[in-house]
Amino acid sequence: MAFNKTGGPEVLHLVDLPTPTPGPDEILLRVAYAGVNYGEIQHRLGDFGEPEGETVTGLEAAGVVAAVGERAAGERAGAAVSAVSVGDRVAAYLPDGGGYAEYVVVPAAFAFPLPDALDLRTGGAAALVLTTAYGVLAGAARLAPGDTVLIHAAAGGVGGVAAQLARALGARAVYGTVSTPEKAAYARAAFGYDEVFVRDDFPAAVTAATSGRGVDVVLDPVGGPTRLASLDVLAPFGRVAVYGEAARHPDLQLPVLPLWKNNRTLTGYNIGDLARRAPETLRAHALNALSLAAAGAVRLDITEEHDLTDAAKAHRLLGEGRNRGKTVLRVDASSSLLPLQRGPASSSPSGV
Ligand SMILES: NC(=O)c1ccc[n+]([C@@H]2O[C@H](COP(=O)([O-])OP(=O)(O)OC[C@H]3O[C@@H](n4cnc5c(N)ncnc54)[C@H](OP(=O)(O)O)[C@@H]3O)[C@@H](O)[C@H]2O)c1
Repeated sequence: MAFNKTGGPEVLHLVDLPTPTPGPDEILLRVAYAGVNYGEIQHRLGDFGEPEGETVTGLEAAGVVAAVGERAAGERAGAAVSAVSVGDRVAAYLPDGGGYAEYVVVPAAFAFPLPDALDLRTGGAAALVLTTAYGVLAGAARLAPGDTVLIHAAAGGVGGVAAQLARALGARAVYGTVSTPEKAAYARAAFGYDEVFVRDDFPAAVTAATSGRGVDVVLDPVGGPTRLASLDVLAPFGRVAVYGEAARHPDLQLPVLPLWKNNRTLTGYNIGDLARRAPETLRAHALNALSLAAAGAVRLDITEEHDLTDAAKAHRLLGEGRNRGKTVLRVDASSSLLPLQRGPASSSPSGV
């Protein structure tokens, strides 16, 4: 499912493209399920530039390794490609998109062996959101045991797993904000928040819930007035971690003096930048988060499954903010029925 011009969900259409060939340190993935993410809505809308020809979006997928490229030369290169074999089940983060397809080429460093406890449908929903949530909490926000956390867009893909990961990493209390009371009830039940507030009133609600102290960490993928108000609910040495622009407001122009006058930190996370400059860190985050999911500490709540050809339907839902938990596209569910096949070098879950 590709688009060749920016616009609404209707620009997504079915195309027949040649099966790509993996280069050095790459694998070819036969996709079983692809996750649907807000970043793909922004890609289609043109927030990341105009498409050049038929462009296949899709930042995460899971499936079976169909081919493995050469091991590149160099001391550190090639380690990840040696860790996978044809037939392995992997969840993949796709920095250049391509997940809404039957086959996609993946840098081997971002093809994560799927633990036996996780099926391909869960894997398809996991690679981007789990890695992002882990990276925002552990990397950008430096979450410490005992911290209190506030998560905006609490009922969504990243938000839902971030709440559970925060607890697994030692958070003392986890609060959320959403747009409607219905989503608040859903997020509380699905992800175990202490409290979930409707976003319009969140500063007063957070102040009351924390007896005036504020929170140590805010996760903000929304932006605009939400971001500005988040700085005001920080406890001393608190961090607002910025990682998205879901509300598509213009960027904030902030004075710096209030940061030191109020012991505040503003920090950021971007998975694409990490993929380019610290791929081993990204891989370590992904493997840690997948292990926590395999151990049952984090559950991906897949509330919507659509056929690949119905990608526009999934985009409409997410673009209008009507989604809950995670949405996946079914590309080739028969791959889920394949027996597990293990190559000699495939068993190391921490093959960084
Ligand atoms: N920096 C990175 O590397 C990185 C990586 C992955 C994802 N992200 C970001 O993380 C965020 C969550 O991604 P996701 O895929 O898991 O999406 P999601 O949270 O499942 O869905 C997006 C949510 O954003 C909220 N939202 C706020 N204003 C909105 C608006 N004007 N229109 C539509 N939705 C609005 C909605 O929740 P409410 O109804 O609660 O408002 C909506 O459900 C996105 O901002 C995404 O760009 C960043």
